[in-house]
Amino acid sequence: MNKDIHYLKKLFSEPFDAKRAGGQTNRNYVVSFRKPFNPFHKVRVALKDLKGNKFRARKFFVRLPWENVLNRKTEGKNILALSRNKKVQRILPRYFVYVLSKRNILDPKDKNRYSVPDGTMATEYIPGREFSMRHFRQVRYQRALARTFHVFHASGVRFSNPYDPFRNEINKYRVAAFRHTLKKLLGKETIAQLKKLELKAQQRLRSLKRGVSTHNDFIFSNFLVGRAGRIYLLDFEYAGLNKKGGIFYDIGYPLRDSFFNPPQISKKTFESFLNQADKAYKRKLDREQIYWSIVAALLVGIWWGVLRYYSVPKKEQPYFLRYVQRGVKGLLGLVHELKEKREPVLPALLERTC
Ligand SMILES: Nc1ncnc2c1ncn2[C@@H]1O[C@H](COP(=O)(O)OP(=O)(O)O)[C@@H](O)[C@H]1O
Ligand SMILES: [Mg+2]
Repeated sequence: MNKDIHYLKKLFSEPFDAKRAGGQTNRNYVVSFRKPFNPFHKVRVALKDLKGNKFRARKFFVRLPWENVLNRKTEGKNILALSRNKKVQRILPRYFVYVLSKRNILDPKDKNRYSVPDGTMATEYIPGREFSMRHFRQVRYQRALARTFHVFHASGVRFSNPYDPFRNEINKYRVAAFRHTLKKLLGKETIAQLKKLELKAQQRLRSLKRGVSTHNDFIFSNFLVGRAGRIYLLDFEYAGLNKKGGIFYDIGYPLRDSFFNPPQISKKTFESFLNQADKAYKRKLDREQIYWSIVAALLVGIWWGVLRYYSVPKKEQPYFLRYVQRGVKGLLGLVHELKEKREPVLPALLERTC
């Protein structure tokens, strides 16, 4: 904490109050000042708000990164691309500072040298609430979320790194997981099923040559509901140019996450969301691609969970054991349920899997 305050002081010269904010991985702070002003007045990107007024605020959001885990250069390039894309401005907090090698890469004219870790980021603070299941059950929020996804996917923003869930995640985690005796977590039969589904999903998901920019971590805590129900997207740590699944990977992600982190989204609620998504994207979205993307995303989570199980202290292992079990149950249940009910949404998936 003291070290963090030391870093915050490198960003803000005026006296401030810092309050720890939530988050999955990083150390986040809400930094507030007594009076509204622009502490980044030398930073060009921060000079004006969307209406052209001078930007002044009392609160800011600062993320101090969890070190050495992600490639911050890649993330920085992606944040730069987002901060320069006009179409996404109304669905993102404004980015003021992103530090790489002591420089604010968002503004080449910012001559300050920030002695803080790579990946330190300061953004506009958005007053609001985290998106929750209570929101997702309501059609108006389903519509708002679907429209927000569409604004992002249609923005033309280009991320710098290719992203293939099989290559970048599943395969990598699976290979590393096999260095451990997996007995405690996964039976032989389950491992065989996981492998079979991985192959199937890889075959079924269309490959995209150019890739499309996706967020790849569309969990509820990465959506903020601001004033008048406006939805903001946060946390682009896993973003990339998706080459397998494309936008469908993002669209299916909230359902995928609910298997790991209950309450689980019901099939009916998810289908209602997909109907809103069809309207937002002005076409019938390919359900087969969406569900195969969910299969892939569940496999990412399962193998990631296995690795985490072996890397955390013993007392944290039960959490990851449960995480993996939930993922496997969710994955097999999803495939099974679709097979049993022969849902019209997924005829092709059923025929080929089972
Ligand atoms: N600009 C912001 N304004 C207000 N709250 C925010 C802002 N950015 C993030 N948060 C809150 O902090 C949480 C963690 O931020 P996030 O960027 O998702 O970090 P992490 O990578 O640690 O999950 C979010 O779930 C959200 O509740
Ligand atoms: Mg987050």
